[in-house]
Amino acid sequence: MRVQVAIVGSGPAGLLLGQLLEQAGIRTAIVESRSREYVLGRIRAGVLESGTVALLERAGVADRLHEESLVHEGFDLAFSGRRVRIDLQALTGRSVSVYGQTEVTKDLMDARKAPGFYEARDVAVHSFESGTPYVTFNENQKIDCDFIAGCDGFHGVCRASVPAEKITLFEKTYPFGWLGILSDTPPVSEELIYVSHERGFALCSQRSRTRSRYYLQCPLSEQVDEWPDERFWAELRRRLPADAAQNLVTGPSIEKSIAPLRSFVAEPLAFGRLFLAGDAGHIVPPTGAKGLNLAASDVYYLSEALIAFYKGNESQLKAYSAKALARVWKAERFSWWMTKLLHGFPEEGSFGRHMQLAELEYIAGSRAAQTALAENYVGLPY
Ligand code: FAD
Ligand code: DHB
Repeated sequence: MRVQVAIVGSGPAGLLLGQLLEQAGIRTAIVESRSREYVLGRIRAGVLESGTVALLERAGVADRLHEESLVHEGFDLAFSGRRVRIDLQALTGRSVSVYGQTEVTKDLMDARKAPGFYEARDVAVHSFESGTPYVTFNENQKIDCDFIAGCDGFHGVCRASVPAEKITLFEKTYPFGWLGILSDTPPVSEELIYVSHERGFALCSQRSRTRSRYYLQCPLSEQVDEWPDERFWAELRRRLPADAAQNLVTGPSIEKSIAPLRSFVAEPLAFGRLFLAGDAGHIVPPTGAKGLNLAASDVYYLSEALIAFYKGNESQLKAYSAKALARVWKAERFSWWMTKLLHGFPEEGSFGRHMQLAELEYIAGSRAAQTALAENYVGLPY
């Protein structure tokens, strides 16, 4: 089979790129190593920047999002028994939308009519540095193409296929993870609460008015089965401010998982006719909800560049890597900063904790500091 752009990975980056290119009349095929059900079952991000929403609108997949998402005009920072509201709307004129990554993925899958190969085995990318690239999978399947889009996440095959001397990797790991729980219980608060507590970070998020998503900072050495629901709820209650703890409605978890935290950037994102987008090229720690939104901004730049290429203008494709990375590094900085501000780092001692509290107090009292936080949270311009 021959297409113009072969896309590896059917996460939000691959599906959104496929949708935008197909809309522009560019033929694509998506090759995904997992099943459709597996991809849809992964519980991940939940907060969309307005730029991401606008891109999904442009892609023609935002009808259900507009019906079902919750628009949030602010969120709370909680520390030392206080709650400080960051009024995103007043500070930036913008808001964010709460709508699960699972739903974004489902809407994109439902909209897709072009070929998608799921449960593909032994996916490999070839001849992208010179010549005509192609993708192979299963025993004898081959897709010839003009370009390959590597949208196959952090553990994918595309970045791993680039010769080591052509790529530079920047990485920082954190000595803890996020234990997440999903439950069909009403959220503790209308808006999200990011909690900095002596016992560690906690986050109260949500998927709808009846479905909550909560996270706790936990040691990397711990396993999910060491966290029965009762232990999770008791620990969350201890970390929440008193009024929120009182409002907490508990119930059985419908999903529970531990995610490690990592900052990671690959440079460049373009290798001849192979382009990386989303988690394949970079990872942020989840604090600040930038992962999915960065995948969307990469896809915006890449789709525009590919569309321009087929109209006879190659310069945008040459500029893709630098343009995407400029925004990626700013989001890396913000996610790293928010992670350092809110999590427990025992190795930093009581001086480190005082620095965090002083910064939180400063944010609480400074409109300038709140604006800097808010404009990064709602998303920097594309
Ligand atoms: P992915 O969603 O990872 O999609 C990549 C796809 O490629 C997958 O479907 C994968 O199966 C497929 N693939 C992999 N290897 C191959 C191969 N060899 N061949 C073919 N296909 C392949 N972000 C937030 O903002 N908030 C969160 O709370 C949050 N929680 C997260 C929890 C976890 C456990 C993880 C891993 C990520 C989380 N993220 C979160 C980040 C966010 O989900 C990602 O940034 C987002 O999914 C990136 O989309 P993507 O399409 O680039 O990558
Ligand atoms: C969610 C995840 C985040 O990382 C975040 O900052 C806010 C919300 C979530 O999964 O709902």
